[in-house]
Amino acid sequence: MSPTNNTFAIFVIFCCAISFAFASDPDTLQDLCVALPSSGVKVNGFACKAESNVTEADFFFAGLAKPGVINNTVGSVVTGANVEKIPGLNTLGVSFSRIDYKAEGLNPPHTHPRATEIVFVLDGQLDVGFITTANKLISKSIKKGEIFVFPKGLVHYQKNNGDKPASVLSAFNSQLPGTVSIAAALFTSTPTVPDDVLAHAFQIDTKKVDDIKAKLAPKKT
Ligand SMILES: *[C@@H]1O[C@H](CO)[C@@H](O)[C@H](O)[C@H]1NC(C)=O
Ligand SMILES: *[C@@H]1O[C@H](CO)[C@@H](O)[C@H](O)[C@H]1NC(C)=O
Repeated sequence: MSPTNNTFAIFVIFCCAISFAFASDPDTLQDLCVALPSSGVKVNGFACKAESNVTEADFFFAGLAKPGVINNTVGSVVTGANVEKIPGLNTLGVSFSRIDYKAEGLNPPHTHPRATEIVFVLDGQLDVGFITTANKLISKSIKKGEIFVFPKGLVHYQKNNGDKPASVLSAFNSQLPGTVSIAAALFTSTPTVPDDVLAHAFQIDTKKVDDIKAKLAPKKT
């Protein structure tokens, strides 16, 4: 191999190694690294708390025991059990959330940029689906005891198709999966996405864009 080819080969190997290493939250290099959000140090996650200060409370959370309070127009609420609630999850690459739905409630189309999600139905029945990058909808009705998977980064939703409340437990391969809610991102961002961009994208007039923005705007309290 010529020196140029050599350099190229090393570059390719290096890039592959990076993409494998960061396919999900990074592998741990120590037993634990309990998050210390008060630290000003920014790493890929949170800095670690001194081990002498680590307690069982850093690994405990009781916040998914009860249904979340649903107080919005979509009729569902997500309660996270991620590194923000459980500091001990820092660097471990997993988390949970619980989602509660009123009858007919919807968890509107959204993505998790950093994680695949696997949901287990605790109660009720839901219509769920995700859309692939080839624009194909993969959807199914699922009920208590059943599982469905939403691949990392793909737009997905769940809708309670029953006349009773429903709930699910979701697991993620990230300590903090992140959520981009499609309608909220496009119509309620700060600063706002220009009306003409949304009008053109959705093939509607700017009046309709303003109507949607007004309906979705967080209510002033
Ligand atoms: C342990 O926590 C206390 C209280 O926050 C703090 O003052 C102390 O510096 C911490 N110890 C270490 C070794 O960081
Ligand atoms: C629900 O939201 C409304 C409007 O934001 C607020 O006035 C009300 O106090 C909330 N109720 C609960 C139980 O949080």
